[in-house]
Amino acid sequence: MPSPSWTAIHALPVPELKTIFDADADRLWKMTLSVGPLRFDWSKTHLTDDLLNAFHALALETDFAGRREALFAGEKINNTEERAAEHSAERGEGNAQSVAAAKALHSRMRALVDAIEAEALGPVRHIIHVGIGGSALGPNLIVDALGRDEKRYDVAIVSNVDGTALEAALDRFDPHATILAVASKTFTTTETMLNAASTINWMIEAGVDDPYGKVIALTAAPDKAMAWGVDETRILPFSETVGGRYSLWSSIGFPAALALGWDAFESLLEGAAIMDRHFRLADPTANAPLIAAFADLFYARVMACQTRAVFAYDERLRLLPSYLQQLEMESNGKSVKADGSPVDGPTSPITWGGVGTDAQHAVFQLLHQGTHIVPVEFIASIEPGHALDPAHHRTLLVNCFAQGAALMQGKANPDDPARAYPGNRPSTTILLDDVTPQALGALIAFYEHRTFANAALMEINPFDQFGVELGKQIAKSIEQDGPTGFDPSTMALIDLAGL
Ligand code: F6P
Repeated sequence: MPSPSWTAIHALPVPELKTIFDADADRLWKMTLSVGPLRFDWSKTHLTDDLLNAFHALALETDFAGRREALFAGEKINNTEERAAEHSAERGEGNAQSVAAAKALHSRMRALVDAIEAEALGPVRHIIHVGIGGSALGPNLIVDALGRDEKRYDVAIVSNVDGTALEAALDRFDPHATILAVASKTFTTTETMLNAASTINWMIEAGVDDPYGKVIALTAAPDKAMAWGVDETRILPFSETVGGRYSLWSSIGFPAALALGWDAFESLLEGAAIMDRHFRLADPTANAPLIAAFADLFYARVMACQTRAVFAYDERLRLLPSYLQQLEMESNGKSVKADGSPVDGPTSPITWGGVGTDAQHAVFQLLHQGTHIVPVEFIASIEPGHALDPAHHRTLLVNCFAQGAALMQGKANPDDPARAYPGNRPSTTILLDDVTPQALGALIAFYEHRTFANAALMEINPFDQFGVELGKQIAKSIEQDGPTGFDPSTMALIDLAGL
């Protein structure tokens, strides 16, 4: 039985985008919003005034405000794991005790950054950061986006257990000028521990004096790091209440702090704090993560869109789509609510995407003329990331805006259906002043809160990820007990690979 708010939402008419614009001269200013260095434009979505009102009623019905307050207060809203979710405390927002604890840990992190800069660990030119999932995607995005001009250190972020990934880093680095950052919240993840061990072996084989003295552990399990051989002075802990995919603000961001410098890392945190305050305090009618969540739910549940595409029209943000895949799909890819009952409809859409303009020449055909309706998100920066001819940036932005216009307006062609464009296809645009640490911090925090807002409105817990466990358990049992008792297909594959 759908709730009263969902019944009301489903009953509302959904006019065409062009009709919505024609009917409301104020549409643009009503559906655009500036938050710090970011500007959001939802005007090319199907959210009408009536739909927005109905979604605000859903927010009341699901006690969205209460859930948000519980998030910032440090209550145990991750009920299945009986934990708080305190990534905002890393940015100075939230429960006072947790904020103070995070500040103390950041001071420790800063001291180690300073010590490495002062060559306390010997001359360092390279950093190998091993970690996976949330322990790699965030630092990778930040270093790739912001570390292009100033190369203080050469950083390789290695996640895959496929040795080809680590070998590529080992081949280009000098073992005598490399430090190893082992990033793992649990300090037990198979891929990370194997990559860490192989890096240590590489140092040993090269005759590095005291390889374990070159290791820095970034973890919420310091005892395990110590047992593995890392000296306490080089362990940078973070709180158990910071989830893996929300952890780049903690010591997991260490390679970013080292490569970009501490000031840049602090600006990243400040940018995120701008979004924290906005999400917590802005009126629901002008609250960016909440409005974005309304659009997400509308397309997932009313229009039955199974996917959502994100295109960064900026090479610096090329890793954003893969970062968002974990954030959104690992958080909200659930079938039950926080109380264990079945969800009321589809939850997280499949997040995918790429960079513009490359994607225009690869996947946009389907977006314009295919049978799937895919809500598209365009992200662009007003300032370019390079010093080449301004024609590059102008062409980039012109293309970005042209795609949104084309998706919406379409083009009839009664004589030739193959050349007709249906139009009425939704998009959102997010414009950054520039890809600075502050703007990137605000952008990532926007996505975190949008993910939370979606979860709150669907009444699910976005902070656990039990779905990843079964495959891990089966892999472990094959490793430990050998291949027994599996289906014929799995047995044959194991046999063929000679495992
Ligand atoms: O397998 C999923 C996961 O638990 C992610 O949620 C997490 O970001 C990743 O593995 C890495 O975990 P850890 O930081 O404990 O190594």
